[in-house]
Amino acid sequence: MTSRVALVTGAGRNVGQGIAVALAAAGYRVAVNDLDDQRTKQTVELVSGLGGSAVSAPFDVTDPDAVASAVARVQADLGPIDVVVNNAGIAEGNRTGPFLDSTTDDWHTQIGINMIGSMNVIHAALPGMAERGWGRVIQISSGAASVGLPIGVSLYGGSKAGIEGFLRHLSQEVGRSGVTVNSLALGLMDNNAESVGGTGSPALQTLLDGIPVGRLGKPSDVGGAVLWLCSEPGSWVTGQTIHLNGGSVNGR
Ligand SMILES: NC(=O)c1ccc[n+]([C@@H]2O[C@H](COP(=O)([O-])OP(=O)(O)OC[C@H]3O[C@@H](n4cnc5c(N)ncnc54)[C@H](O)[C@@H]3O)[C@@H](O)[C@H]2O)c1
Repeated sequence: MTSRVALVTGAGRNVGQGIAVALAAAGYRVAVNDLDDQRTKQTVELVSGLGGSAVSAPFDVTDPDAVASAVARVQADLGPIDVVVNNAGIAEGNRTGPFLDSTTDDWHTQIGINMIGSMNVIHAALPGMAERGWGRVIQISSGAASVGLPIGVSLYGGSKAGIEGFLRHLSQEVGRSGVTVNSLALGLMDNNAESVGGTGSPALQTLLDGIPVGRLGKPSDVGGAVLWLCSEPGSWVTGQTIHLNGGSVNGR
């Protein structure tokens, strides 16, 4: 068990909630962020009900001032932030369609959340980690960052690829200060099955046929990988993108 502090963004439901629960079960005091205050409270209640320690930290990751003051508030309440999990993002299921049908607003929205939102949180929390000589920055990314997919996710995949590339360089800048920086690229998660037709649909079955372990991902799968990256044995891993996708040949 640890007594470290973790901030998980977009943790009001699904993947982020699973990460918050896993961290709290390992003893982390967790700051639960989401845009939606009701969702942060639900996750805090869930964690508390399981005997863990969590506080609600609602803010918009795309607003640098809101991020800076929230990070200061969390550190005053819980102590220095040791772990940042950048999970908030526009999920793949929320597709924008073909690039040529998109607007510049669509571009800014996707890059604003999936890329700049993560950079805002890192910019606020990383100096303290580096100063104290220990930290973990973990980005929740997607297989769509590495593989071209004909499903209308070019803006999503491009913004996830952008943040992965940025973090690879950042890992080089902070490696000597005890901070590791990695991305977890997820395949399709069970909360997103509807985006391929839902349970029993031929499209979902085709996708499952290309996943050797035969199932979609669960939030606890991601929580387990986050815990390993946070562990001391995980300290030799930095600058990497690790794919969590059941061995999928679908690129997602
Ligand atoms: N679900 C999948 O199949 C899948 C696959 C690959 C990657 N991912 C990635 O995993 C992460 C989580 O996915 P999910 O399916 O749980 O998403 P989700 O949409 O269910 O949950 C994301 C949460 O982030 C919050 N959020 C959105 N914008 C925010 C902002 N600006 N500031 C703070 N919070 C904000 C939302 O309110 C929501 O509660 C995302 O980064 C997504 O790209 C998901």
